[in-house]
Amino acid sequence: MDPFGRLDEWYREAEAAGQPQPEAMALATASPDGMPSVRMVLLKGWDARGLTFFTNRESRKGAELAANPRAALTLHWSTLGRQVRAAGPVSWAARRESLAYWVTRPRESQAAAWASEQSWPIASREELERRYRAILDRFAGRPLPLPPFWGGYRLRPDWVEFWEHRPNRLHHRLLLTRRRGGWREEILQP
Ligand SMILES: Cc1cc2nc3c(=O)[nH]c(=O)nc-3n(C[C@H](O)[C@H](O)[C@H](O)COP(=O)(O)O)c2cc1C
Repeated sequence: MDPFGRLDEWYREAEAAGQPQPEAMALATASPDGMPSVRMVLLKGWDARGLTFFTNRESRKGAELAANPRAALTLHWSTLGRQVRAAGPVSWAARRESLAYWVTRPRESQAAAWASEQSWPIASREELERRYRAILDRFAGRPLPLPPFWGGYRLRPDWVEFWEHRPNRLHHRLLLTRRRGGWREEILQP
């Protein structure tokens, strides 16, 4: 079995069940010396190559991924009592993929991406808002280009686990591990 088809199915079911923000996932990265950090990001797509999210490449996660290009992620769909976990190497998505997503974002989100040196301190909220307005002025009357420091990443899972709540806490855990040319399937104890 391929985890991506099952992810399609579970994602559609989460949407149909009215799960708020089904695309929100926790993404864990680690510094080269092994200190983990975790934050929410949005899962923006997946296919046989992996799972894609977008961020600032000069952020903390960007720096950690540059030094240690591996990550783990978790999606939790509380309305269905389901969790999906995955981990593996991470690489940059192609520029054309970042561009394709960038142009779908509202102008305000694009301006915020330009204005924010994500994860770095700034003197005040006012300074941030001033920078935001300066970006809107600078690009007035024309589209905001894709920032050179912003784009997609793709996590290519070595394994994916599908967890489902069951009565009596005898939950169901299906682990799919990448094997040459396919996926090994195992049931894990809950
Ligand atoms: C539900 C939710 C979704 C988020 N999605 C994204 C996202 O897709 N990309 C992103 O860069 N930050 C996103 N954020 C903000 C991140 O959690 C985080 O604050 C930011 O990326 C900086 O993380 P870092 O300092 O570890 O790099 C999201 C936050 C929440 C609560």
